Amino acid sequence: MTLLRTKSIEQTLAASEEEGHRLKRRLSALDLTVFGIGVIIGAGIFTLTGRAARDYAGPSIALSFVIGAIVCGLAALCYAEFASTVPISGSAYTFSYATLGELVAWIIGWDLLLEMMLGASVVAQGWSEYLVTLLGQLGITWPPSIGPGSHFDLLSFVLIAGLTLLIAAGIKESLRVNLVLVGVKLFIVLFVIIAGLFYVKRENWSPFIPPSSPGQAASGLSTPVLQWVSGMTPATFGVLGIMAGAAIVFFAYIGFDVVATTAEEAKNPQRDLPIGIIGSLIICTILYMAVSLVITGMVKYPNIDPKAALATAFLDVGRSGFATLISAGAVAGLTTVVMTLLIGATRVTFAMSRDRLLPGGLSQTHPRTGTPVRLTLIIGIVVALVAALTPIGKLEEMVNIGTLSAFMLVSLAIPVLRKRRPDLKRSFRVPGSPVVPWLSALFCLYLILNLSIETWLRFIIWMLLGFAIYFFYSRSHSRLETGDAAGALDSGMPQMLDEG
Ligand code: ALA
Repeated sequence: MTLLRTKSIEQTLAASEEEGHRLKRRLSALDLTVFGIGVIIGAGIFTLTGRAARDYAGPSIALSFVIGAIVCGLAALCYAEFASTVPISGSAYTFSYATLGELVAWIIGWDLLLEMMLGASVVAQGWSEYLVTLLGQLGITWPPSIGPGSHFDLLSFVLIAGLTLLIAAGIKESLRVNLVLVGVKLFIVLFVIIAGLFYVKRENWSPFIPPSSPGQAASGLSTPVLQWVSGMTPATFGVLGIMAGAAIVFFAYIGFDVVATTAEEAKNPQRDLPIGIIGSLIICTILYMAVSLVITGMVKYPNIDPKAALATAFLDVGRSGFATLISAGAVAGLTTVVMTLLIGATRVTFAMSRDRLLPGGLSQTHPRTGTPVRLTLIIGIVVALVAALTPIGKLEEMVNIGTLSAFMLVSLAIPVLRKRRPDLKRSFRVPGSPVVPWLSALFCLYLILNLSIETWLRFIIWMLLGFAIYFFYSRSHSRLETGDAAGALDSGMPQMLDEG
């Protein structure tokens, strides 16, 4: 069946080894773990935690983080097996093209675009909130009419524009900058945990799971779909609040899958990718739980600042110097997340364009920079406009639903690939397949059901748009359809991470 046509794994692997299109394999397991932490820790912990604790879960937001970690951990195992079997750039999109067929690959690619492009916008908005907080602490008032939450958030626009130019120009130096910024970010997170411990008041943790109550955050179109379908009275807090909180703070874990996009640059992908993916996830989980416990211990949950929770918690206890340090660290740290998500979006679009599911002109690389300049600029402009024009707090859930859908499909693909291609070398295998991959898919679905009705509606519109493009354009232009074999082998990826 045409819809199930796949590009063979051998074809995909051979293409990545083609002379002139090969990426240098220079990243070690440690590099990948650092890269993972760099993209995972971001707006999720710096801004969303506060909002989710205040509106949905109270101190039990720490449990939401555990649930998020379990869901991501299972999906991470599946990603790791895929990445160790098909160590090729393009992440889940490429894996699924080789296993589940073009339509599923398209859906995953389309979901990943939602994840990475909107993700970059959300984190840029968080960056802008922290920058305004920082400027305020330094005595500078940024005009609210062009600040976060206004009709046009100039700051997030400028950030994305700048990073886009950097990426388009080739980013040989950026890995080093990335390393420094990741160090700053880790330092700040550890600082919040250690310094915050001194200000924790145990009574703020009580009740740890606030009693379920009808809340504004769960009414009308904001009601989680599960509550709506089951006819429950929409409620926040309580056990349902923990689940709704998990569906939201899931955002904080997004990014470990981006590690898989560096497969072609890993020295020993079969061994190092699983270490990088799972290692970064474990470290982040521990840090997230600690931060959320400290913040809800420092500030009673209804009083948590939904915008810049970490810095404000220290302002509230009279440590304005600490607050300034945290804001500065957040500004530095969030920059790397935006950059990595932008690179991820460019790579997935590049892969889709190379397969001609999107116009081929997009994957043309510039002779001098070796990067797909046109594509990078288009993505940058879209992401910058979305970040500048969309109200804050509207996009995270969309990112989550896109990512969770991709995770679900990736999980389901594992047993399929094992059955279809038992011969392929897998240096990492998900234990307990097919049960564990199925459980992973089920958990993803459960979190999706905990997202709001309006998020579902927006996601349905996004998917309909994706199907329209696929059926009216991609299917007929696909290299598998046109039989452009040379093209199918032309798998060169731009060198964006590891040039020189
Ligand atoms: N996990 C990333 C963040 O929290 C996307 O910003």
